Formats: sequence, structure tokens, C-alpha cells
Amino acid sequence: METARPSVIVAIDGPSGTGKSSTSKAVAAALGLSYLDTGAQYRAITWWMLDNGIDVSDPEEIATAAAKPVIVSGTDPAAPTITVDGEDASGPIRTQEVTSKVSAVSAVPEVRTLITALQRSIAAAATGGIVVEGRDIGTTVLPDADLKIFLTASPEARAARRSGEVKGSDLSATREALIKRDAADSGRKTSPLAKAADAVEVDTTELTLQQVIECVVTLVEGKRVAA
Ligand code: DC
Repeated sequence: METARPSVIVAIDGPSGTGKSSTSKAVAAALGLSYLDTGAQYRAITWWMLDNGIDVSDPEEIATAAAKPVIVSGTDPAAPTITVDGEDASGPIRTQEVTSKVSAVSAVPEVRTLITALQRSIAAAATGGIVVEGRDIGTTVLPDADLKIFLTASPEARAARRSGEVKGSDLSATREALIKRDAADSGRKTSPLAKAADAVEVDTTELTLQQVIECVVTLVEGKRVAA
């Protein structure tokens, strides 16, 4: 009889355009783990704020409203879902408007406290193990993760990847927007984008997506053998 494989929690952090989502989903699917996109949760709360007339330039207004929306994440890597108050939010959270406002909303400590608690409860419920991607997973959300990966890539490579994803987008404008968002995410007071001291850094600039996936799968398998 085959023995059950030990559960494993994998934290994958890094700035935008490093291949975090594609890598995390593929690694989770390959290893039979659940998958959580924490950026989608910050986008979902941002979308709700904009849709409900909250002034997102006012941190106090954001903080007062933060607990109102009910955000639910589906963790199947083959078909991840996100709803806000029961409504599918997967399309609206990817608009330019949400992308340009999400750093401001996610910098508010009350928002981070609520979303961090939600993320921890989802990870705890994933009894078979989970890959969680974000900016502060290894440092703050799941500091006891079995494996922490920090993905990086040059700004040029990241902008080229993001431009490829968004039809008709301008490469230099994408690069500028990306650098601005990273600076905001890295510079905020509460749990900024940062590499955990015990994270394995993988520079994806010269790697194909397949190579990054294989690298991370090998690292997870290594942890499971060692466990
Ligand atoms: O991964 P993404 O681009 O969809 O994330 C959107 C934003 O959410 C990102 O600019 C910063 C914020 N975020 C965060 O503050 N902490 C996380 N763990 C994940 C995302």
C-alpha cells in the first residue's frame, strides 16, 4: 500500500512579472497541492472598495470598510476562483484601474491583518499541502513554511512578460508602472515585499517558465525526502 506523502507548505514570493503565478499553479498541479493567489485577494478587496465608492486615497476610509466584503478563494490549481460577496471577481480584478490602486489599498494595516488571517486559515485547511504565492508569505503570513522561494528577474524581462499578457500594452509604460508598483510594495511599513532570510532565490531572467517550474518542483521534492 502506498503511504500518504507528507503535507508541504510552499511560499513563493517576488515582484510582479517574475512568473510567480504561472510557476506556483504549475508546481501545485504537478505535486497535487492546493494553490492560493494572495495578490488576487488584495485585488478583490480593492475592486470592492472602488465598486462601493470608497475613497482609496484615504487610508482611514479603507480601514473602516475593510471587514465588509466577503472574499472566498478556490484553491484548485487547475481552476482557481475568487468571489466577493458571492460574485465572481476573476475578470474585474485584472483591470488597469484595480492594478493601479491595489498597492494603496494593500498598504493599509487593517486590510493586511484581515487578509493575512484569511490566508492562514486557507493554508491550515489545505491538509494535503499548498503553494501560496505573494509578496510577504515567507516573511509574515507563513514564516514556518517548509520551503520558501523568492523569484526575481530583471525589470526588462518582467516588463516584457507583463506586456505579452496584456494586449496592445506599451513596453516602456509597462516597465515604468511595474517599477512604481514594486517600489510601493517594497517601501510600505506593514509587511513589505521582501525576501525571507531562509528563502531560496531563483533569478528567472534567463530561464524559460518550464525551467523555473522544474527547479521549484525539484526543491519541493528535496524537502519532502528530507522530511
Ligand atoms: O501578484 P499581484 O500583482 O496580483 O498582486 C497585486 C498587488 O497585491 C501587489 O501590487 C501587492 C499586493 N500584494 C501584497 O501586498 N501582498 C501579497 N501577499 C500579495 C499581493
